[in-house]
Amino acid sequence: MAAKSAAPASGGRAYQLVDHYHDVVVVGAGGAGLRATLGMAEQGLRTACVTKVFPTRSHTVAAQGGIAASLGNMGADHWQWHMYDTVKGSDWLGDIDTIEYVTREAPRAVYELEHYGVPFSRTEAGKIYQRPFGGMTSEFGEGPPVARTCAAADRTGHAMLHTLYGQSLRHNAEFYIEYFAIDLMMDDDGRCTGVIAWNLDDGTLHRFNAKMTVLATGGYGRTYFSCTSAHTCTGDGNGMVARAGLPLQDMEFVQFHPTGIYGAGCLITEGVRGEGGYLTNSEGERFMERYAPSYKDLASRDVVSRCMTLEIREGRGVGPKKDHIHLNLSHLAPEVIHERLPGIAESARIFSGVDVTREPIPVLPTVHYNMGGIPSNYWGEVLNPTKADPDRTVPGLMAAGEAACASLHGANRLGSNSLIDLVVLGRAAAIRAGEVVDRAAKVPEPDEKRSDEILARFDRLRHADGGTPTAELREKMQRAMQEDAAVFRTQESLEAGCKRISQIWAELGDLKVTDRSLIWNSDLAETLELENLMACAITTVYGAEARKESRGAQAREDFPDRDDKNWRKHTLATVDAKGKVKLSYRPVHTDPLTTLDEGGIDLKKIAPKARVY
Ligand code: FUM
Repeated sequence: MAAKSAAPASGGRAYQLVDHYHDVVVVGAGGAGLRATLGMAEQGLRTACVTKVFPTRSHTVAAQGGIAASLGNMGADHWQWHMYDTVKGSDWLGDIDTIEYVTREAPRAVYELEHYGVPFSRTEAGKIYQRPFGGMTSEFGEGPPVARTCAAADRTGHAMLHTLYGQSLRHNAEFYIEYFAIDLMMDDDGRCTGVIAWNLDDGTLHRFNAKMTVLATGGYGRTYFSCTSAHTCTGDGNGMVARAGLPLQDMEFVQFHPTGIYGAGCLITEGVRGEGGYLTNSEGERFMERYAPSYKDLASRDVVSRCMTLEIREGRGVGPKKDHIHLNLSHLAPEVIHERLPGIAESARIFSGVDVTREPIPVLPTVHYNMGGIPSNYWGEVLNPTKADPDRTVPGLMAAGEAACASLHGANRLGSNSLIDLVVLGRAAAIRAGEVVDRAAKVPEPDEKRSDEILARFDRLRHADGGTPTAELREKMQRAMQEDAAVFRTQESLEAGCKRISQIWAELGDLKVTDRSLIWNSDLAETLELENLMACAITTVYGAEARKESRGAQAREDFPDRDDKNWRKHTLATVDAKGKVKLSYRPVHTDPLTTLDEGGIDLKKIAPKARVY
């Protein structure tokens, strides 16, 4: 058990802090947070997991289609093919060492999940069932689509969360549930020594002192008006990192999933197209055949989203306003829908009133995933790059999952590579922590001055007495992002976006919080979240404006081509308290971990080339 003591309030402090001492504190209990927590606890590290929602309600619960690993249960597959697809999917912005590590380790990590108890769907032979997903191919992109995505029906994330939470409890990880992490404790030497969090349920404030802090707080989809992300996806870890003066990486790469339910934004899994579903326009045409003759509806999702947007723009959208697209699956056998896609049949009925056995689902590209985040290496160590050392690590701080940018996905993530990212890199963070955390050392003592600063910000927001309600400013931000940093971008739209988001930043000073209490004060929680979202929004638009090329999810109409000479590099963005964004760049890792002689990939296979599907 972790030591726990009530600390005396420091000189005149308005808030009492409850101190906790652990080897490791993990912030977030989605797939990455739980896999890291489990891995740490299994090794006997005293591990706390601090989470703002109950673990099984974390957004990983919404992951439907599955988790990519080259098990080869449905036909031939190889980790090198998976590696090739991921490099190509990333539009050559992904770090090659990370991509090799994840694709190589993926089968082992999935079998571990199976042994932990994840109830995967099964083939007739009793093996883990796998389905095709966009951009997952055979023969280094020369062969047909490959069934690589391991699925538990269309509720894979749900199954994983329940299993990982149970296993973490079994290994005595301590959970602090419905605690909102406010800010990181950083000492004068730049080491992270823990995090201060607010217990939403009883209003107490807690200082988690730790030798290692792991941020696994998820993405920032809620910077946009329409997204598949839960309301809780507010970039909390990214906001904490930005306030600590550390950079965020590649924030401009925001993924639009092709099939969000029109009007509601809820996800309809790519697994539908993997099982044989297809998209049509107002003329009933399977238009993907025109744009991606080889892989059609199973092209990479950035490509499919752009094609759908073009169809709508050119007047071939469906519905009275011709503003969306149809996803057809009524031709699939009822038992396929019943066994493999029960969840989306229910979502389609609830959110669009559609019976999928008879009618198409109305869909629209919807913000789904953030490729950018907290720069880290594939061991989860957070980076604070300098020119001389672009891989310099921050002592005591790790990141994993969608909050991190390792960068497995580069400029665009392939469907089902997110769950494998969470599991392989959450597990890697635990392996690394097991190596670097000195179990015998004392947990660092808290820095009172830094704690006071964190509490002063919390108090300022709690008593914010301006004229603008948080919800009003949040909607302004979301509409600006939706309009100006969309699927297609131009200099004009991005300059407008920078201007609008900077103005909104200035308005943060005029926020009004009406509830002053400390117990379940959702007004204050949403205000803390808004500040986190704004750090993400502003770094997204400024990064996008500066990047004069099209790559993956960044589709610039004024710079339609990828420019490897000038732009095959990661963006780093810091933002100060006044909202001033500073951009710099660091090189992409282009070397794999192993050579061809050592059983690695043939470098010629992953050399940059035109990205066609
Ligand atoms: O379409 C889906 O099931 C989403 C999967 C993913 O984003 O990896």
